[in-house]
Amino acid sequence: MLTLAGPVPRRGSALLDPGVIADGAVLLDGERIAAVGPRRRIERLARARQARVLDVDGRVVLPGLVDAHTHLVFPASRVEEYEQRIEGASYEEIAARGGGILSTVRRLRRTTEAALEQQTRGWLERFLAHGTTTLEAKTGYGLSGPAELKILRVLRRLARTQPVEIVSTFLGAHVTPPEYRGRSDEYVDWLCRAMIPRVASGRWAEFCDVFCDRGAFSVAQARRLLMAGRAHGLTPRLHAEQFSRTGATALAVELGAASADHLECLQPEDVQRLARSNVVCTLLPGASFFLQQRFAPARRLLDAGAVVALATDFNPGTSPTVSLPMILSLACTVLRMRPAEAIAAVTINAAYSLRRADRLGSLEPGKQADLVVFDVADYREIPYYFGVDLCWLTIKRGRIAYARQPHRL
Ligand code: NIG
Ligand code: FE
Repeated sequence: MLTLAGPVPRRGSALLDPGVIADGAVLLDGERIAAVGPRRRIERLARARQARVLDVDGRVVLPGLVDAHTHLVFPASRVEEYEQRIEGASYEEIAARGGGILSTVRRLRRTTEAALEQQTRGWLERFLAHGTTTLEAKTGYGLSGPAELKILRVLRRLARTQPVEIVSTFLGAHVTPPEYRGRSDEYVDWLCRAMIPRVASGRWAEFCDVFCDRGAFSVAQARRLLMAGRAHGLTPRLHAEQFSRTGATALAVELGAASADHLECLQPEDVQRLARSNVVCTLLPGASFFLQQRFAPARRLLDAGAVVALATDFNPGTSPTVSLPMILSLACTVLRMRPAEAIAAVTINAAYSLRRADRLGSLEPGKQADLVVFDVADYREIPYYFGVDLCWLTIKRGRIAYARQPHRL
């Protein structure tokens, strides 16, 4: 068992201790964890309370995985662009000719709310089957009042009617929509004046995000948007330094953002700045893999003492995967993160970036009973067996939400 108990957020050498209990057990009481520790002690408590026993037979138990960056609600794949890229076109070229994010926007606007909800529900079941019990979900494929609210309503309904915990982020500033073509400042004005207050007052989202990059929004625009969001109670997060180095990480630090995500094009001074802050560096190696682009300097960030999380970035353009275990494989093999560092990056540090580390991300008494069991003998085998689906059991709020084999608790 890996408890991930310890300092929050986790950085530096503290990342190397995932809190292993060799022959461990956990006692659940409803939605909460009552006790965690060596099996013999927990078994005594369990007998006293006449608890039911679920023997996972030597498999590895860890906190439910937290995916801190997804674009969950989208209408369809962009598999035609995938093939165009294989033939040599770049992501940014495809986007510049109206494909990319805007092609998903056109399609989402035409898709009914019921159809979007049904498809998204299907993806959430797959997230559970890969060990994810909580995820952040961004809007950003609507880019108009009605279409963004359609996404937010789908998220709210799904949050209430299926097990995965959903944390909503307003990403109205994903790209400039066709109605505002060539007038991105006016679009930013409208977001700040009309949309952000509406999203915040309806409690539709907790966070506000901006895609700050060439071809999207500038640092000055991002500052205006995130400050407007913050004034209305939305905590900032930021897509930063993905395709070009804009200086967005400095903005993230300046605003005390919850996270700066992507970070493929970081400069050495950005690494230092991030390392001295509590901004979570959320790395998305799935996007680098899928676009065959440079990977973020994970080792430099970790060695400098930054707080690092990992996420899928699940979206149809740059990272169509729901699998955090696959992300762990990329993180360990390509980014050279140690398995213990990578696991902390999808549990306690990811929970911290979503402002939920008091309740999620580790197995400790009083915390929510979110657990995942992998069909491995050693936790390092989770990244090692890349592309192999080894999630065996997922428990959310004390209930079995996914089981590879039928189980009763
Ligand atoms: O995180 N960079 C911006 N947003 C997404 C891509 C979205 C899309 O291509 O549909 C990302 O990579
Ligand atoms: Fe993203």
